[in-house]
Amino acid sequence: MSQMQLSKKTEGIFHLVNKYIYRKDLVKLSSLYDNAKWGETHRFAQHYQKHFSPLRLKKLNILEIGVGGYDNPKAGGESLRMWKQYFPKSMIYGIDYVDKKHFEEDRIKIFQGDQSDEYFLKKVVSEIGDIHIVIDDGSSINEHRIKTFNTLFPALKEGGIYAEENIHISYWPSLGSKWSELAEKSAFLANCVNVGGSLDLNVSNTIMAMYKRLADGLNYQEFLNPGYCPSYFDKNIVSIHFYHNQVIVYKGNNNEGSNIIENNTIRPYILEELGVESLEDLGLEFPKSSQ
Ligand SMILES: C[S@@+](CC[C@H](N)C(=O)[O-])C[C@H]1O[C@@H](n2cnc3c(N)ncnc32)[C@H](O)[C@@H]1O
Repeated sequence: MSQMQLSKKTEGIFHLVNKYIYRKDLVKLSSLYDNAKWGETHRFAQHYQKHFSPLRLKKLNILEIGVGGYDNPKAGGESLRMWKQYFPKSMIYGIDYVDKKHFEEDRIKIFQGDQSDEYFLKKVVSEIGDIHIVIDDGSSINEHRIKTFNTLFPALKEGGIYAEENIHISYWPSLGSKWSELAEKSAFLANCVNVGGSLDLNVSNTIMAMYKRLADGLNYQEFLNPGYCPSYFDKNIVSIHFYHNQVIVYKGNNNEGSNIIENNTIRPYILEELGVESLEDLGLEFPKSSQ
């Protein structure tokens, strides 16, 4: 064996040993895998460490959308392998619209399909069964991300976690036909050109706009709005954690109640204290958009 072959082999062994040594530390671990979870601009791993460490040794089904590498068949799979190392008892599932099945191995299974295809996602859910963690690091198109959340969040087990990466797509306006040449140059650029974000922070159709609305929904029991009909998400999200470029949502029963409001109207004893008989007597004007 040549000197070069030997040092390559030693390097490989060190790499493997380090992956084992740092198996409980997602920040160190992600720097040992060529993935997009920790680097100069992506700092997701530190937040995953906080949210995932209590779950590390549980037997879970974890689904990540976006195996990586886009149209390069040789690239990708690194984050799936990192999750496999970090969660030693869990099954790791990946989704990509490019065929990445050759990255399957023990405890890693990959589905090929488009995350904006609700039928495909439902088929994946029925194959996996209980899903405990979803990580969306796939399409850069806001509409795709929103559709995926609407389909996969209801499929999560109670207590499950839904993580969304690359929130930056909310702030990128579509670049239109001027850039279509760029899109033809690489699948990665194609994924960034017409993402459907906006310079206007008050639009309603971006992934960040969706999470901002869901954050209000956490407090739906405090809404003073008789007749308000809570959504599935109002009732099943118990916390939302906003970080730079990343959002982490916990599923659970959001039914703590309110000390002032019941069924979206003021409790009778409070009305009494206010000296009025009904909410109407307060002369409130409800916003037109409210249900
Ligand atoms: C940012 S990469 C994923 C990186 C990987 N998760 C990591 O941490 O190393 C995004 C991947 O999503 C895939 N993708 C893009 N649009 C998709 C879609 N609509 N459905 C499924 N996969 C998609 C791309 O092929 C690409 O491999």
